[in-house]
Amino acid sequence: MEIQLWRSILDPYELAVKELIVKFEHIRQEHRDTDRYSPIEQVSGRVKSVSSILEKMQRKGVPMERMQEDIEDLAGVRIICQFEEDIDVVAALIRRRSDMRIKSEKDYLKHIKESGYRSYHLIVFYPVETLDGSKEIQVEIQIRTMAMNFWATVEHSLQYKYKGDIPPHVKDRLSNAADAIISLDHEMSVVRNEIMDAQVSSQMQVNLVRDILNHIENLYRLSNQREVSKIQDEFIRIFKTKDLVQLERFQRELDIIAEGYRAQEVCHSI
Ligand code: GTP
Ligand code: MG
Repeated sequence: MEIQLWRSILDPYELAVKELIVKFEHIRQEHRDTDRYSPIEQVSGRVKSVSSILEKMQRKGVPMERMQEDIEDLAGVRIICQFEEDIDVVAALIRRRSDMRIKSEKDYLKHIKESGYRSYHLIVFYPVETLDGSKEIQVEIQIRTMAMNFWATVEHSLQYKYKGDIPPHVKDRLSNAADAIISLDHEMSVVRNEIMDAQVSSQMQVNLVRDILNHIENLYRLSNQREVSKIQDEFIRIFKTKDLVQLERFQRELDIIAEGYRAQEVCHSI
């Protein structure tokens, strides 16, 4: 049998996982920076271990030369959402992207697995650039809620412990837990709007404070210290009121002051 150079085979998969984590995390960041609720809560990824690859090939009867085609989850990315509704939003977002092509989708939310497993899966083709040129590889993207992830993680550990043969009394418990997860996700969905509002407000406050402090720092360089110190005291006073509207108004006022200084600077430099 030909010798498999695992490291060089799996290297492009490592790159794909790294790139996709950066890209999906950036989507989260973009939402936060623009005061919007992010449907993505957390992103992780991994390249399948050689031991799991060999085990899966044996289990599915996949020959070595078919490995990269038939084992679709050599590269895996997991996107965790807060609410079940976010899963569709993320899937739609992936379908719209021009940097990956969908091969297939599996909806284990509509079609819950016998084990109780729920998740939304997409297999995508994703191009990576290597020293040997570009290569389009398959990546499995799993999208699920935090609650679904908790269940799947625990169940996966038990599958491992019992070598895939979980005893009936444990299976029953897992099945009850899966039902509890379904109701938990539904309960959380009911208060979704309220939670989304709260998170957006809290992020808005973070962004406003960041902008205000940037302004104060810039003004400190341009204007006299006494004036900036007064502005800072005013900021602290408004911050203590926890009133977002006042904070927004203050930020707009600082915008105008900063604009004035910028205009002066331009005059000086002419
Ligand atoms: P595997 O051989 O398990 O990879 O399945 P597959 O390639 O035929 O595809 P499937 O859609 O069934 O599963 C893909 C992946 O979903 C798995 O590798 C797991 O990460 C996850 N998964 C599927 N079923 C279960 C389950 O019952 N429990 C847990 N914990 N994870 C599951
Ligand atoms: Mg798998």
